[in-house]
Amino acid sequence: MAKYVVSPAKDIPPGGRKLVEVRGRPIVIFNLDGEYFGMLNRCPHQGGSLCNGQLVGLVQSTEPGEYHFSRQDEIVRCPWHGWEFDIRTGHSMCEPDRIQATRYNVGIEAGAAVTEGPYVAETFGVTVEESYVVIEI
Ligand code: FES
Repeated sequence: MAKYVVSPAKDIPPGGRKLVEVRGRPIVIFNLDGEYFGMLNRCPHQGGSLCNGQLVGLVQSTEPGEYHFSRQDEIVRCPWHGWEFDIRTGHSMCEPDRIQATRYNVGIEAGAAVTEGPYVAETFGVTVEESYVVIEI
């Protein structure tokens, strides 16, 4: 599995997202409060752009009239037909055992580490002062 430098970390602030392309694959990187997650920008239903999806939370209910809201902005809703996916796992919120968006492992590396390799910088120069988002494919 190769690692690719895809962005300076500062370009994807908490709550933000960025669409990158790695080896011909469109991948959206999400930053959830400092944790980074990668997902193929292609909804498993009919290919909608998950990068353009609304971020929502989880609403659960144990009985009528009572509900609990949690995980604010950790779920992406596909803009085409509204299917929702857990950004952390890629699992569908409706059928988690059967339907899943393709995920990629994403990490943060210091600039000094990425200049040593085996990383591949795809679209920009790498300097040693910053941290970089690195994706494994
Ligand atoms: S293409 Fe995403 S819900 Fe239909």
